[in-house]
Amino acid sequence: MPDPAPPADTLLDAIRAVVGDRGLLTGRADTAAYTEDWRRLYQGRTAAVVRPGSTQELAEIVRLCAAAGTPIVPQGGNTSMVGGAVPNEDGSEIVVSLARLNRIRDLDPIDMTMTVEAGVTLKAAQLAAADRGCLLPLSISSEGTAQIGGVLAVNAGGNNTVRHGNARDLVLGLEVVLPDGTIWNGLRRLRKDNTGYCLRQLFVGSEGTLGIITAAVLKLVPQPKEIEAALCAVQTPEAALDLFTRFQAHDPAAISAFELMSGLGLSFVLKHIPGATLPLETAAPFTVLVELATPRPQAGLRAMLEQVLERALEDGTVADAVIAESEAQRASLWKLREEHSEGQKREGASVKNDVSVPVSQVPAFIRKATAACEALIPGVRVVPFGHMGDGNIHFNLEQPVDADPAWFLAQDHAIMDAVNDVVREFDGSFSAEHGIGRLKPYMMPDWRGGAELDLMQRIKAAIDPGGIMNPGKVLPPRP
Ligand code: MLT
Ligand code: ZN
Repeated sequence: MPDPAPPADTLLDAIRAVVGDRGLLTGRADTAAYTEDWRRLYQGRTAAVVRPGSTQELAEIVRLCAAAGTPIVPQGGNTSMVGGAVPNEDGSEIVVSLARLNRIRDLDPIDMTMTVEAGVTLKAAQLAAADRGCLLPLSISSEGTAQIGGVLAVNAGGNNTVRHGNARDLVLGLEVVLPDGTIWNGLRRLRKDNTGYCLRQLFVGSEGTLGIITAAVLKLVPQPKEIEAALCAVQTPEAALDLFTRFQAHDPAAISAFELMSGLGLSFVLKHIPGATLPLETAAPFTVLVELATPRPQAGLRAMLEQVLERALEDGTVADAVIAESEAQRASLWKLREEHSEGQKREGASVKNDVSVPVSQVPAFIRKATAACEALIPGVRVVPFGHMGDGNIHFNLEQPVDADPAWFLAQDHAIMDAVNDVVREFDGSFSAEHGIGRLKPYMMPDWRGGAELDLMQRIKAAIDPGGIMNPGKVLPPRP
């Protein structure tokens, strides 16, 4: 077990000797931003935040911490929704920020790959790919802040999973610093490589509990030649599903995003986010943001979009719709979707359920889970939204108006358990894209118990026998 005592001054001196003064932050004022998560659910403490400038420096730091038995919390953009990147409260853990590992090492438009360091933001990686005529097909609401290392560590999903899969589907190679300070250089950019266990996939989604990702080779795809986006008002989630199946029937490969928003979630965005406006006549109970994209020129996406929407407007499946006429309009439609978390945060306390069910079951799931939560907490405001096209709904609950936020947050386990009971009925998952972090390890025995959890515990013990990598995250304590 890692040492629960604060790191000794001798360790901090040794770390300073590796990274210099600019690579080591100590003192409450300088470390505060690294000890609290985006949702402000956790306020940790740390004696130091280490900011290595290279993989070699990081390896040396990990070696020092391993020798001292000092636990490490790796941190990227600190945008975790489940407290996966903040230290605990006893001050024994050191935070390692990857922010200075921020180079794009290589981008090859023939191989269609880019080699990116962990501290590059997802947005910067997307822009670098676009500069060379390629697309990095991963997009999440926090992409301006989230860093590649964290995005891979949690196997982020986001808006384009319906077309391009999750982060893990885009990873060809990885460089990782292991818990004993060894550097594993697996930065291969091969499309085929059947050489034993697929180690890179072990680290993707392990949330920093097995090692620290320092760089990755990511797959790119051709940039779209046509993109069309539309906002569609619908009365029910069933109508949204109906619309989805119509686009699927025309050209499933063209659907790059199919996002659902509830009227309430949208109203929080319109109320709290400057510049957010609704380009539809009336606010509906649900709204869909659909995006179609293709790398083929003159593929006729606009005609397809108009045809599907015309028919859906005629038969009442869609109540109102608007098609983006410019890049600026497309961005303003996306703003309505991407600011959902911020809108909810400003409205009050919320309990998040990042769940997935089969796409066909999304409407039934929303109905049942809504009824369960309203019965549990009268006045609770149900805000389901998210990636309907891949079955991942953020079934978030906003505190009742005028309720005490602390009282509401104290109900989080009861709420999450009630939602998860419904998720289970639909053979879904209790964590679709945010990971387990510090919030959900208690759910693991129930959902992944038996051979699956045992195997995870054995892998953890084999790779990190000292238990120094991101303790308390993902896996529950062993009985
Ligand atoms: C998003 O898709 O905007 C985030 O993953 C959602 C959340 O706040 O639950
Ligand atoms: Zn999401």
